[in-house]
This record gives sequence, structure tokens and C-alpha cells, in this order.
Amino acid sequence: MRPLQPTPAFASEMDAADPLAAYREQFHWPTSTDGNTYLYLCGNSLGLQPKTVRAYIEQELNDWARLGVEGHFQATNPWLPYHESLTAATARLLGAKPLEVVVMNALTVNLHLMLVSFYRPTPERYKVLIEADAFPSDRYAVESHIRWHGYDPKDALIALQPRPGEATIRTEDIETFVAQEGQTIALIWFGGINYYTGQAFDLARLTQAGRAQGCLVGFDLAHAVGNLMLQLHAWEVDFAVWCSYKYLNAGPGGPGGCFVHERHAHRPELPRLAGWWGHNKATRFLMPAVFDPVPGAEGWQVSNPPILQLAALRASMAMFDQVGMERLRAKSERLTGYLEYLLDSQALENVTIITPRDPQQRGAQLSLQVSDHGPALHERLVQAHVVCDWREPDVIRLAPVPWYNSFMDVYRFVDILVKAATDVARAG
Ligand SMILES: Cc1ncc(COP(=O)(O)O)c(C=O)c1O
Repeated sequence: MRPLQPTPAFASEMDAADPLAAYREQFHWPTSTDGNTYLYLCGNSLGLQPKTVRAYIEQELNDWARLGVEGHFQATNPWLPYHESLTAATARLLGAKPLEVVVMNALTVNLHLMLVSFYRPTPERYKVLIEADAFPSDRYAVESHIRWHGYDPKDALIALQPRPGEATIRTEDIETFVAQEGQTIALIWFGGINYYTGQAFDLARLTQAGRAQGCLVGFDLAHAVGNLMLQLHAWEVDFAVWCSYKYLNAGPGGPGGCFVHERHAHRPELPRLAGWWGHNKATRFLMPAVFDPVPGAEGWQVSNPPILQLAALRASMAMFDQVGMERLRAKSERLTGYLEYLLDSQALENVTIITPRDPQQRGAQLSLQVSDHGPALHERLVQAHVVCDWREPDVIRLAPVPWYNSFMDVYRFVDILVKAATDVARAG
């Protein structure tokens, strides 16, 4: 591969050689009221809209208008088994068996459903291990279950910190901690990628470490699905949840999903919050009084799903199936690597990349810690029509997404950042 260069000519060459470059045109790009197309680097928060989404949703709107309730059976894509049409593609993205995945609800709702079944504390083993700076919703959910079981989060919730002076947690430190304390830990719950630092955890090693001590192990894959290569089945992860509005491009409030490992698929005795959609499909409409869960992840469903949102996800998943995660990940590593290279070559004062330098320990996102005037710098970027987010207390998150971002986007961004940083420093 050619050595990287910090020039627009080089960025153009990289785009010309990019086999996925044409997909950029298959997304709607937000534009400002004065007609400028935004430089969008915020797919870690909300992915852009694939142009095919509208037709997928219109199909269901038309079938609803035409058929009313009969659409459940007679729609072009019947609504009764509609969510099943997403199972195979979802399983491919997660490295799972179809039995192990289901698309449903939103992420935190799914986390609650999973915790009911898989956080089963005993007086000897009741603690939950999470990463420092876990996404707040995860922390709220986990704490609420700890309290629900009569324990005190001050004692039962362990948030593992990085070493002093380091921004991210070393895998070996997690392993050592679990080897020492594992007998008191009921559940290890980590983000696949930490939302703040962008650190991708080694999910295989974490799972191994936890299972060796008899802990259950689950992951929040909000920032990992559609971004990293995943092998949840082979890694023997117990359960996972995710959302589809970030790297899966399924739109605001897009449906979440759940993975439950095959070894838990046939355990009707597991406590769970039940609903009719999780009931045995052969007898669901006989309206029996006794709940009989569908084997596998589908048995955790509660309600019938939102078809219009699922339609948007179907449009996006068809694209993932067409291109494949391997090719997306290969471009993503190059694109984020180029962003890192350009930032390093500028060596901006006050701006530090806190995301790991090893591509295996990150996805698309780089987090820039800004030591001075961070909000002012972010505001300048916004004024220059850059869309990226600011996360308190001191981080700008950037996510060049291989579906729709180009090497020229990355080049332009760093150019804008350098000017903005100079302006902010001047303004004091
Ligand atoms: C890492 C992570 N976990 C959980 C959530 C919460 O997701 P939801 O609102 O779909 O429950 C988010 C939302 O952005 C997130 O980034």
C-alpha cells in the first residue's frame, strides 16, 4: 500500500480507488437552509438515510391502505412474520445462528428484558462488572436491577477504571480483575465499543475470562454492530443488545435487537418478562392461558413489532447483505486510519486522540479530547457545516462511516479543524 500523504490530491486518489465510493450517492445528505451540504461525521449517533428507505416504507403504507388488517397475512411482505425477514441478515452481522437473534424494541428495553433473565444474584455472587464511563442508560438499567434484587449499587456495581493517566482500559487488567474477583461477580456487562472513548473491547477475551469464573457475560453493541466484525456465537457470549439507528442506518428510534446464545435457547424455566409475541407461534392465536416461549431469542419478544420502522431497517440490511461487513470494515480501517494520520501530522495543541491507536481496538470512531475551549471549538465546526458531536466533559466524537464518507471528507474535516483551532486560540 502507498504511504499516506496529507494532500487533497492523495485523498482524491484514495476515493478514486475505493470500491465502495459509489454508495455515498445512495444516501440522503443533509443540507443547510443556505444550500450547503453538511460534512457529516456523526454516523456513530444517527446514520444517514439510505435512499431506498422511502420505497420500503411506502410499500407497507400502500399495503396498509389497500388491505387494512389483512395486511398481516396478505401484504406483499406479510406483517405477521415480518421481523423474521430480518433474522438471517442480522445473524450474519452478529456472527450468530438465526435462532440466537431477534429484532425488537429499543436497546435499553432489551437490556431490561435480558437482565431479568441473566442477572440472577445470590448472596455469594451478586456483583456486576461494567466499564468506567459506561453509557448512562446502561448504568441506570443495571443499578435498577441491583436494587430490585435488594442489593446496594455502591457495593454491587463495580466500574472498572483505566490505569491512572490512561484513557482506556487494558484487556489484561480486565482479565486480572476477573480472575481475582470473579467468584463474586454474577454478570460482566460491557459496551462492545465505549461510546465516549471509542475503545473496542476484546469481546472474545472478556467472555473467556468471565466464563472461566462462572460469570455470565453480555455486551451493549450499540456502537459495534455494523461497524466491527462480530462472532458472538463462537465467542460464547451469553447475550447482547444493540440499536439500529447508528451504523445500521435504520433511522431515528430504529428497532433494537437481542442476541441470546444457543445454550440458553431451550430454557423455558429462565425467569423472563413474557408477552404474547414471545409465545409459541403454532398456538399463539389459540389464545392459550399458559405461556409457552418460542425457543431462542424470539422467546424474549413481548409485543408485535412496528412495521414501518422495520421496513426502514430492511432497506438498510439489504445493503449490508449486498456489500458484506468484511468490505465495509476494510474501508473503515483505512478511512479512520487516514483521519488519525492527518490529525497526527497537524499535532494540534490541546487536541489529543484518546481512542486506541491499534485498529483492532477501535471501530470507525475517533474521540478527540480537547483540553481548552472545547465547546467553542465544536461551535466553530458547526458553523463550518461539520456535523460531529460534543460529549461532556471534553470530547469531540468523529465517525467517518465507510458507507458514505470519503477520504476527501476526512481531509476537508482536518483542514476545517485546523482553521477553527487557530481561530479559537486567537479569540482566547
Ligand atoms: C452505548 C449506548 N447504549 C445505550 C443507548 C441507549 O439506547 P436506547 O435509547 O435505544 O435505549 C445508547 C444511545 O445512544 C448508546 O449509545
